[in-house]
Order: sequence, then structure tokens, then C-alpha cells
Amino acid sequence: MKDLMRYTSLLLILVLAACGGGDGAPPAEEAQEPAPAAEETVAPALDIELPEGVTAAMVAEGEAVFTGVGICFTCHLEGGVGGPLAPDLTDDVWLNIDGSYESIVQNVINGVPEPVEHPGLMLPKGGAPITDEQVNAVAAYVWTLSNGG
Ligand code: HEC
Repeated sequence: MKDLMRYTSLLLILVLAACGGGDGAPPAEEAQEPAPAAEETVAPALDIELPEGVTAAMVAEGEAVFTGVGICFTCHLEGGVGGPLAPDLTDDVWLNIDGSYESIVQNVINGVPEPVEHPGLMLPKGGAPITDEQVNAVAAYVWTLSNGG
């Protein structure tokens, strides 16, 4: 009987230790989650002369359009690095335009009905319901991608 009681209390201690042992430390699951990607701070960090008519606020708005309502990222991927469906917008290789801000605006407005290298086309405004102001903003953001932004 004495042995059984000792055994039981030992078991109780083990159970308590297992349950309460991690107090203070975050559960292992949480700790293993990848840290969220650092917030891109393109506009504030920009140390480049923006094209005429372009402001840092437009660049910041454009990034939100690119990854949001403009759905550009679905083909050009996050950060405009390109993928199987659409070209890299961060390098200085341009397939359809000369890369100037104005040419990017025009490209976004018109889309690319006959792509040079990619299987599917880009619809006007990427097929997204964006305003002229959002077009200018997203073009401003795209311009910074290949100009040190
Ligand atoms: C359905 C996929 C798709 C979406 C969505 C899309 N694009 Fe494109 N984009 C393309 C394709 C395809 C091309 C042309 C590639 C080629 O000529 O081979 C292109 C070309 C471009 C170019 C010219 C690149 C060059 O090298 O000539 C720019 C700039 C561009 N897209 C910006 C945008 C922006 C900004 C958005 C969002 C408003 C957007 N795209 C949405 C597929 C897409």
C-alpha cells in the first residue's frame, strides 16, 4: 500500500511537470512559426529621384495596389520578381516597353495582348478594377523596382 501511494504521487508529479513545465515559454508550435517577412518600407527608404509627377506616397499606395486590388502579384509574384506567367519587373530587361515611368503607365493601361515570351496575355489594367489614380500609383511602384527602390 505504501509503495502504491509513493508510485501514485510520483506519477502525479510527473503529470504536473509535463503539463506545467513550459510555463512562461511559448508553446513549441508557436515558436516554430516562421517570423513574418519584414514589412517592406520602399517609400520611406527611397533614396532615389522619382520621375516627374511621382511621389513617395504614390509608390507606397502602388505597392498596396500591386499586392492587393490590382492583383499584379498573382502573375508577377510578390515584389514583382516574375514567374511562369509574367516577367520580372525588378531587372532592367524590358520586353514590351522602354522601362520609363510613362511607358509603364501605358503598359498597365493597355495590358499586353501579344506577350513576347509568356504563354498568357496581360489584360488591360491586369484585369483588375483599378482607377486611373491606382494605375499611376502601381506604375510608380513598378518603376522603383528596377530603379533601386
Ligand atoms: C494574368 C497575368 C498578369 C497580371 C494579373 C498582370 N500582368 Fe503584367 N504582364 C503579364 C504578361 C504575360 C506580360 C507580358 C510578358 C511578355 O511580353 O512576355 C506582362 C507585362 C507587364 C509589364 C511589362 C514588362 C516588360 O518587360 O515589358 C509591366 C510593367 C506589367 N506587366 C505590370 C503589371 C502590373 C502593374 C499589373 C497589375 C495592375 C500586372 N502587370 C498584372 C501578365 C500579367
